[in-house]
This record gives sequence, C-alpha cells and structure tokens, in this order.
Amino acid sequence: MLDTLPQQSPDALLALIKMYAADERADKIDLGVGVYRTDDGATPVFAAIKAAETKLVNEQDSKSYLGPEGDTGFVDALMPYIFGASAPVSDRIEGMQTPGGTGAVRLAVAVARKAGVERVHLGTPSWPNHAQILSDIPINAVFFDHATDDGRANIDQLLGVIAAAGKGDAVLLHGCCHNPTGIDYSNAEWDAIADAFSRSEALPILDLAYQGLGSGLEKDAYGLRRVLGAVPEALIAYSCDKNFGLYRDRVGALYVMAENAAQLGPIMSNLNALARASWSMPPDHGAAAVRLVLRDEKLTQMWLDELASMRARIADVRAQMAAAGQIGKLDLTALARQHGLFSMLDLTKEQIDRLRSDHGVYMAGSGRINVAGLHSGNIANFVNALKDVAG
Ligand code: LMR
Repeated sequence: MLDTLPQQSPDALLALIKMYAADERADKIDLGVGVYRTDDGATPVFAAIKAAETKLVNEQDSKSYLGPEGDTGFVDALMPYIFGASAPVSDRIEGMQTPGGTGAVRLAVAVARKAGVERVHLGTPSWPNHAQILSDIPINAVFFDHATDDGRANIDQLLGVIAAAGKGDAVLLHGCCHNPTGIDYSNAEWDAIADAFSRSEALPILDLAYQGLGSGLEKDAYGLRRVLGAVPEALIAYSCDKNFGLYRDRVGALYVMAENAAQLGPIMSNLNALARASWSMPPDHGAAAVRLVLRDEKLTQMWLDELASMRARIADVRAQMAAAGQIGKLDLTALARQHGLFSMLDLTKEQIDRLRSDHGVYMAGSGRINVAGLHSGNIANFVNALKDVAG
C-alpha cells in the first residue's frame, strides 16, 4: 500500500542546507535558511541560554510529563514582552507551549478550522511553510499580494481583503520582519489594519517569529498590540527559535485572545486536545531554559544585550548592502528600508543558479537572502558576484 505514495520534492529551503554543506569551496556563502550569524559567520548558543542550561541541568530533578500545554511558566514569562507589561487585554489571553513557531501556526490554523473558519487569507510571497501548513490541514488558502511592484507593503490590498472578509475568514499576518521580503507595515499602516479588523468579522492570526530582530522588542510588537486592541478575538503564533537562538530545540507558543475570560477554558481545552493528538506534548528543554532566563534579572539583561547586538549587526549589513546602490536592475538601497533577517533580490532563476555554481552563493530559489549570512569577510565578494550575474 505504501508503494502508492508519489515521490515528494524535498523542502527547498531545507535542501539548501545539505547542498551548502556538500560544497567544498572555502569562500562559499550561505544566505539560505533563516538563522542569525555573527560577523564570524557563526550561530553560537546565546550566553544567557548557556547559563540557563547549566542551571537547568543542575536543578532539574525530574523529566516526568508536563502535559500538552508544556511549560506554563515559560508561556507566562513571555507574555509581557509580547502583549506589553500592562496589557489591558491580558485577562482575555492564555497560551500554551508548542514545538517551534511551526507548531504554533499549525495549531492556530487547526483550531480556527475547528471553530468554523473556512478560508485563510495570506499575503504572498510568504514563508513557504505557511502555504504548506494550510494545504496539509487542509483549509482553503486565498492569496493576495503582500508587496507592490515598487517594493512597498501593499496595504490597499490587505485593507480590501479585511473589509471583504466575514465570518468564516481568517487573515494570517506576519507581526514583524516579514519573511521573505523584509517589507513590514509602518505603524500608520498597522493603525489602518487594526481599524479595518475592528469593522470586520475576520479572525486575525498573527505570526510573530522574529520579535526583537527588527526595530526592537517593543516596536516589533506594535502591530500585534494594535490589532489585539481592536478585535474581540485573535490567535498569536510565537517563536523563540530566532530571538533566543534555540532553532533545533523547537521553542514556540500559541496564545489565544478570547472575547471574554470565560471563553478561554473551552478554547484551551480544544487546543489541548489538538496538541495531544498531534505531538502530545512539546519538547521541554529549550522552553525551560527561556523560563530560567526570563525569571532571572541578570540573565534577562544578558539576553536583551545579545538581542540588541544582533539587531545592530543586521542593520549594519543592510546599510552596507544599500551602499552598493544599483546593480543592473537590482536596487539594493531597498534593503535599508526593510527589517529582520530577510530581503528578496529581484533575480532570475538563471542568475540564482549562476550565483551558486560560479560563486558558491546559496540562497532560496525565490531570491530571498538571509541578510545575517553576510559579514565583513564575504560582503564584498557577494556584491562582486551580484555585479557578475546581474550587472
Ligand atoms: C526560514 O524561513 O528560513 C526559517 O523560518 C526556518 C524554517 O523553518 O523555514
């Protein structure tokens, strides 16, 4: 029976990791999967996480089951960062731990479908896994353009989608550091989005996977908080994979904001049941380490400092790339206006293939680059490679 399964192509982004590893050129450049890198090209464990892990190993006296909701101390400790220290809506919000941001998005869509959502509107291009999750649940995906041809957020399309949406519709939005374009909504645009949601019955699903890597922890949460202030209910998918550097430990959370506190019990019971049938319980280690960081003032400060230096380096690389100006039809100045790990370069498939074969540059087939893959040792080579293929 299993022999009836057709061959699936591997996830293109994850396949790049293997291709890059197999390339023996010393000056190869990895701009593929979204992991932060230092100016030495390394992705070290955060010092605050290392310290918390040491504490965890010494102090943890049991690895007995916790339950589908995972580490509730971790879930609660993140809330002031996401929703604000004095969030007026916090008594209407509850969360649970998930295996990474992927687990959170999947659970959000699954519970939305169970509650009667029939369509999820998604601006494209988006993180490819968004569409894969929608198709696998399955639920109807309706696509709109995230960006305009001149590289701005296509706010008019989004406002139109929200205005036309009703009961049965959800709209999935990136909270900050849009993946793959880096094109975020401005605060004024978020105000308009929140206003549109306040007049619509559509359910917002907000994916916040890069908080702190754009303009700062507070600023990166502006849009999410504005939307939550305008609607009765929403789902929030969160990832600690990037802002705590925990990638393979799979640390995420799903929060629900209900119309009133009394509704949280039944909603959470559905989330628990869905999680139980999917992964039973999330992996503990990374979330426990985050809890220890956030419950210790000194470790929290170490984490905040590390996050600030990551953000500053990303902004610096963006400024250096923007200084390269125009290469053929490529406008690199746009990179300085964009946020987070990713930007899209307007390259053809042939140009992307040539970057890989002739220059050892690995980037997604969509033209997405991980800006953090660039550093003082390779940025000039990358600009020269772009001049060669696109100049
Ligand atoms: C990415 O987009 O590169 C990251 O979010 C990693 C992933 O899981 O795709």
